[in-house]
Amino acid sequence: MVERTTVRAGLRTLREIERTGLAGMDPVIVEFLQGGSGAEITLRRNRSAFDRIRFVPRVMSGRPYPSTSSTLLGIDLRMPVLTAPFGAEGYFHEEGHLAVARANERFGTCSVVPEAGTFSIEEVAGAAPAAAVFGQLHPMGSEANFRAMVQRYVDAGYRALVLTLDCPQPGWREHNLLNDFNIDNRVVGGNYPPGAEVDMERALGQLYPQSDPVWSWAKLTALLAEFPLPWLAKGILTAEDARAALDAGAAGVVVSNHGGRQLDGVRSAIEALEPVVAAVDGRGAVLLDSGIRRGSDVVKAIAMGADAVLIGRLSAYGIAAAGEDGAHQVLELLRQEIETVLVLLGRGGIADLDRSAVEWED
Ligand SMILES: Cc1cc2nc3c(=O)[nH]c(=O)nc-3n(C[C@H](O)[C@H](O)[C@H](O)COP(=O)(O)O)c2cc1C
Repeated sequence: MVERTTVRAGLRTLREIERTGLAGMDPVIVEFLQGGSGAEITLRRNRSAFDRIRFVPRVMSGRPYPSTSSTLLGIDLRMPVLTAPFGAEGYFHEEGHLAVARANERFGTCSVVPEAGTFSIEEVAGAAPAAAVFGQLHPMGSEANFRAMVQRYVDAGYRALVLTLDCPQPGWREHNLLNDFNIDNRVVGGNYPPGAEVDMERALGQLYPQSDPVWSWAKLTALLAEFPLPWLAKGILTAEDARAALDAGAAGVVVSNHGGRQLDGVRSAIEALEPVVAAVDGRGAVLLDSGIRRGSDVVKAIAMGADAVLIGRLSAYGIAAAGEDGAHQVLELLRQEIETVLVLLGRGGIADLDRSAVEWED
């Protein structure tokens, strides 16, 4: 049987953690966290596409109790779920990514730490010294500032970089316009304390000045070749871009539409996954985020070929509900749900999952 711990009311299920987290939040911040861009078509599609995938269980499998363990870029993970880089997280809990990193370390998984976070990347790495951490950046703006930030990640012991490519400027977020909401620099400026060289626009994914062209693969390859860290290309939705990322030197890709917050109308990440897996063809890692809300979503993504997934809003709900303990409980519940699904599917573990475990609805 799945191993359960006694949990207080408010944190008993992932849906309850979401409700608990949002209940204590300023409504403007709720919209900032929950909202998507444009007409929120992609935001909804991220969920409806998961609902269109059916499980195909097998009985009497003779399999042992399933293990959720897996590895990514040579790093052991207790389950193939990392936390996504979400900036401005001080709006959700005063300890922000410090709490996320501690929860991940305690649980046994890896954080992707945003450059536009409330705490500096050195503080977050220091909060979870035994955990592997990945660092996120937007490749744009001043090359010197970009290099300096990469060097900080190297010096702070980060194990890989995640380059966010789908955000040369923020998406069209109407709730922010209606709420007249502008992110407070103190909540995203952890890496740029007063007096430090500020590159806030880049940290936030805001191209400036507007005449600057979007960077190219060639430029990124040349810049990153100077550093020893493997890197992942985040925001990939097509086979073509997945191939281009690997050709540019990426160790893998993150299939993502930024949780429906960037270009509205694009495919859901889970719909984009299989063509990307085919294009990558074992040459690198394939991760996925956007719409993961349950352990069953994780199992569907892995069965369709992802090596791991990331959770954005789920982790934010966790810290909003109860700081480090809430973020930890999100991971615990995901693990318990994943184990339950694997047992009922008749699969022996993450490594035993393949395409035969799922099918698309007609
Ligand atoms: C509040 C918030 C802030 C985010 N900030 C960043 C960021 O600074 N950099 C980035 O690459 N992605 C950012 N993202 C996107 C997440 O990394 C991730 O792609 C997305 O949340 C996944 O979808 P999900 O929330 O449905 O799990 C942010 C997402 C949210 C909700």
